[in-house]
Amino acid sequence: MAHVCPWWFTYSFDNVLRRWLCHPERELADHVSEGDRILDIGCGFGFHSEALSRLLGPEGELVLLDVQQQMLDRAYRRCTRHADHAKVSTVLQSADEMEPRGPFDFILMYWVLHEIEDHAALWANLRGQLGSDGAVLVAEPNMHVGRRRFDAELDVAREAGFEVCDTPGACISHTAVARHPGVPGAPPE
Ligand SMILES: C[S@@+](CC[C@H](N)C(=O)[O-])C[C@H]1O[C@@H](n2cnc3c(N)ncnc32)[C@H](O)[C@@H]1O
Repeated sequence: MAHVCPWWFTYSFDNVLRRWLCHPERELADHVSEGDRILDIGCGFGFHSEALSRLLGPEGELVLLDVQQQMLDRAYRRCTRHADHAKVSTVLQSADEMEPRGPFDFILMYWVLHEIEDHAALWANLRGQLGSDGAVLVAEPNMHVGRRRFDAELDVAREAGFEVCDTPGACISHTAVARHPGVPGAPPE
C-alpha cells in the first residue's frame, strides 16, 4: 500500500529553504501558456500551484486535485491570493480514479507519483485527460525516490503508450516529460 504524505508533514518541505532553493515559475514557464487548462495532481500546499496560477493568468484554468482536503484548502488560498490569478477549482479524489475532466494542456505531478497506488490505472486515466499536444511533467524527490525506482515508474508510463523523455532543471528532483502519440496533435510515432 502506497504511503500518503500526511498534511501536517508538508511543513517539513514546503518551507523557506525550499523557496530559497527552488524556483517553480522558472521550472514551469516553458510548459505553460496564458489561458491554458492545467491539472495539478497531488498539489499539497500549492508550492507549484501558485506559480501555475500566476503563469496562466485570469484567462487560464487550474484544477487542483488531492486526496486530502487540508491540502486543497491551503493550495486554493495560495493560488488566489494575488491579483490576476487563474480560475481555480479543487477536486478531492485519487488520481488513479479521476473521472474525466479534460482536456488539459498540461498535467503536473510533482513529488506525488510514488504515493499513488495503481500506476497502470493512473497512466490509462491520464491518457484520457490530455488534450491535443498535451504533456505530463513528472518530478520525484531524489532524496526519497532513487534513480532505478524512477526509471521503473516511467516504464509503466511507456507500457501505457506514453513517450517519455528526461527533462532537466527541477530542483532536487528526477524529472521527465510524457506525451501520448495517440493524442491528436502530438508528434507522430
Ligand atoms: C509529498 S506531497 C507533494 C505536494 C506538492 N506537489 C509539492 O510538491 O509540494 C504529495 C501529495 O500528493 C497527494 N496524494 C497522495 N496520493 C494521491 C493520489 N492517489 N491522488 C492525488 N493526490 C495524492 C498527497 O495528499 C500530498 O498532498
